[in-house]
Amino acid sequence: MIKRETIDKIFETARVEEVIGDFVNLKRAGSNLKGYSPFNEEKSPSFMVSPVKQIWKDFSSGKGGNVVSFLMEHEHMTYPEALRWLAKKYNIEIEETEENAEEKQRRTERESLFIVLEYAKEWYKKQLFESEEGKSIGLGYFKERGFRQETLKTFETGFAPDKKDAFTKEALAKGYKLDYLIKTGMTIDRNGQQIDRFRGRVMFPIHSLSGRVLGFGGRILNSQIKTAKYINSPESEVYHKSKVLYGIFQAKQEIVKNDQCILVEGYTDVMAFHQSGIKNTVASSGTALTSDQIHLIKRLTKNILVIFDGDPAGIRAALRGIDMILEQGMNVKVLLLPDGEDPDSFSKKVSSDELLLYIEENARDFIKFKAGLFKEEASEDPIKKAELIKNIIESIAKIPNPIQHEIYIKEVSALLGISEAVLFKELAIVQRNQQRQIERDYQRKKQTESLKPVEKAEKKTEIIDKRSVLERGIIKLLLLHGTKEVEIEDWEIKEIPEDNSEPLIEKFNKKTTVAQEIYLQLQEDELEFSNPVFARIYDLIMPKLLSGEEIDISKLQVNFDEETAKVISDIMMEGEKYKLDDWEKYEIEVKSEDQTLFWSVSDLVLNLRRLLIQDLINQTKEELKKEDINAREILEEIKDYLFLFKVVSMRLRRLSA
Ligand code: CTP
Ligand code: MN
Repeated sequence: MIKRETIDKIFETARVEEVIGDFVNLKRAGSNLKGYSPFNEEKSPSFMVSPVKQIWKDFSSGKGGNVVSFLMEHEHMTYPEALRWLAKKYNIEIEETEENAEEKQRRTERESLFIVLEYAKEWYKKQLFESEEGKSIGLGYFKERGFRQETLKTFETGFAPDKKDAFTKEALAKGYKLDYLIKTGMTIDRNGQQIDRFRGRVMFPIHSLSGRVLGFGGRILNSQIKTAKYINSPESEVYHKSKVLYGIFQAKQEIVKNDQCILVEGYTDVMAFHQSGIKNTVASSGTALTSDQIHLIKRLTKNILVIFDGDPAGIRAALRGIDMILEQGMNVKVLLLPDGEDPDSFSKKVSSDELLLYIEENARDFIKFKAGLFKEEASEDPIKKAELIKNIIESIAKIPNPIQHEIYIKEVSALLGISEAVLFKELAIVQRNQQRQIERDYQRKKQTESLKPVEKAEKKTEIIDKRSVLERGIIKLLLLHGTKEVEIEDWEIKEIPEDNSEPLIEKFNKKTTVAQEIYLQLQEDELEFSNPVFARIYDLIMPKLLSGEEIDISKLQVNFDEETAKVISDIMMEGEKYKLDDWEKYEIEVKSEDQTLFWSVSDLVLNLRRLLIQDLINQTKEELKKEDINAREILEEIKDYLFLFKVVSMRLRRLSA
């Protein structure tokens, strides 16, 4: 772990405008800098950087944050990667904290496995490119399949000689521990005898997103031999088959650049496409895509093109996996190759240009593709037709965005000659069934975990959502106007009439600062923020504000994680949006904000209080349902809360009157 002092220093030194300036062309706009969004194609600039606050905001994609979150968003770095990148840029020496014994051992073990895998990769490469056997058999094989030297170097392919323990012997002699050789799966221990897992094969190293070798696939050279065509590294502490995509390291830049990822089945397919200039290609290595793999792609793009071999049996199976991609909100296209071809074979029959053209002309939107595919099969049989409709609608229902439902229904309707009304009805049925399934799953979960009833859980989230909105409003006031003086109209309860009518309230004015007033009102009800991000911001800025200190967000950046930085950037940059095009509008905005300041403070806090009282009332009512309770006492309590609720509502009404 990087030491806290180093992190502080990085945040102190790094300038958001300099770092972003490395990637985006920025121009001055008042106290800010603006430019074209690096996340979207756009005609007028909507990307803003504030050197004063050390934050950025992209109005076209909604993204925003501090210097570190920019590197994470734009360069797909992890948090520590971003810190290390900045340290390098600003020549800051990184100091690491001491790990505890267990952490150290785990890390050293992982590191050791990586070191062994790196050694193995280099060793197999050396066999392929330098040994006589490797050059004649291994390189000969690749050459025969049409792979160029350059492609083999990019993918770091290798050659495992057909000997019992050539690799293991050399690795042990070089001082690599047998334990790690076995844990990486490179060596198999057979009754105390150590043999190489990969023998007489060409080797395909599997890289992580950042280019570390995690494991290998090895292909047999002679198809006559009766053994598996491919064998792969076993699962290990560093290799999880379901989480990696072959070729992702070599493809990532192109995936981002093209805003599309092409998915094929095998190692050689990826290499062949890459060689043909289609470099945004990865493979799931022969299995259906997992949700972890989809997430990996989603870090880089939302658009996937899935390529199927041209045999009909495979298509059906593959189609099922695609619903999962839809569910993740990704846009899916599919492409069918000519019968009997796979991406490797096909790409070698045509020129690069022809391949690109074939893809452009034949890539189909997934839903339309599916509709077309089944159309032929089901044309006359009414039962099959009903099945077909259900099947397609089920895919559509998986898409999270309801606007897309509508678009697809229109298209499918036209394609299959089925009325939109029928399709919408089917969609409603499918959605209801899906909802029921979700509820059933929930109930089952509830039974095992003895959770609260569904109804209550739903009510609760609604309250939390409303609270979040109000809490955000309070944070915004604090950030933008915390130290400003306001004159607040306050009320005091003078008399509570016996007959339960409205209480008598006396009005008075008081001068205070926005922060003080919010602090007092929240204290009074012992209110705490339910949203952890807002709570963190509140805890950090409130003490400063109360001592009259202006908030300098740029100095506080180091305290904010990615999520918090995004929230702060959103809030602080809200007003800035107008500066992008229309100054006048912005002036008006500022003025009206000042005028409503007084109103806002009271309104927000009162609303929050009312919501909480409501929550308390509901909770107390629930109490009544239990056994062994003092109902009288509880009813009294409810009455008190209802009274409070009334007072707060009254104040709110007066405010808005
Ligand atoms: N695969 C595997 N283990 C197997 C078979 C296949 O891991 N026993 C994976 C490999 O990643 C392989 C992919 O599934 O690349 C597709 O398998 P297949 O179509 O059989 O092979 P191809 O990729 O066409 O390989 P080649 O062109 O070398 O025959
Ligand atoms: Mn093949």
